[in-house]
Amino acid sequence: MTDEPSKSHGRLNIGATLAPRELITDRPDLAGAWTAKIITLFPETFPGVLGASLTGKALQDGLWKLEPIDLRLFGEGKHRNVDDTPAGGGAGMVLRPDIMGRAIQFAQKNAPQDRTRWPLVYLSPRGKPFDQQTARRFAAADGITMICGRFEGLDQRVIDHYDIEEVSIGDYVLTGGEIAAQAILDATIRLRAGVLGNATSTEDESFSEGLLEHPQYTRPADWEGHKVPDVLTSGDHGKVAEWRQKEAEHLTRTRRPDLWRAYTAKPENNSTD
Ligand code: ADE
Repeated sequence: MTDEPSKSHGRLNIGATLAPRELITDRPDLAGAWTAKIITLFPETFPGVLGASLTGKALQDGLWKLEPIDLRLFGEGKHRNVDDTPAGGGAGMVLRPDIMGRAIQFAQKNAPQDRTRWPLVYLSPRGKPFDQQTARRFAAADGITMICGRFEGLDQRVIDHYDIEEVSIGDYVLTGGEIAAQAILDATIRLRAGVLGNATSTEDESFSEGLLEHPQYTRPADWEGHKVPDVLTSGDHGKVAEWRQKEAEHLTRTRRPDLWRAYTAKPENNSTD
């Protein structure tokens, strides 16, 4: 048996209905472009929101590449089954390890084995919480393979066998991994060179220094009686920077004590607060 889906069922379906097909397929030579391979039962949900705005423009410009892999094509029988009932009983269905194994083999065929260069990720609420540091790690790789679950989850043996990294986007349960994959891809791709078009714009945003970002204001200077803080229109750049730092610290301390503790624990952030 090969890793390929059965020929009688045609080629891998990498089309998408939510964005023009050419966003995904008609790329010029993209050798070397950062690539996201997504194993999913819903390939048509990609690029989804990633086809819009800066990530969409970057996709079109070949700064990154998307390869949805339709898990159904690796399924068995007339209905291309991919799941079965849980061993030991219980509600729901579990994705079969043999089916997922074939999809993973297919995805990894031309990807580097080294997981630093090419993380293999399963989106799951049981996973390690995704954060900005993980986004930076993924952005520093050559690409990523993501497995989107559905139903009750994925057979544990396939997770263990391939040493798959489980990642969660938060303490809530989604119906599948597709939205989580898109959130993670968005956070990752925007860190790749050329995507934002402004090299400095990821430098003082939330989390970059371990703090939440300070509030932002724009014109009009007076809106419905609410004024832009005077310091921001003073023209004193030193004072503005000081005010922003204080606001960022205040927000972090009051909203995210966990981040604040980590921030103040660093010697370079010794604070009197
Ligand atoms: N799949 C279902 N819920 C999820 C979550 N919170 N994070 C990542 N993947 C998921």
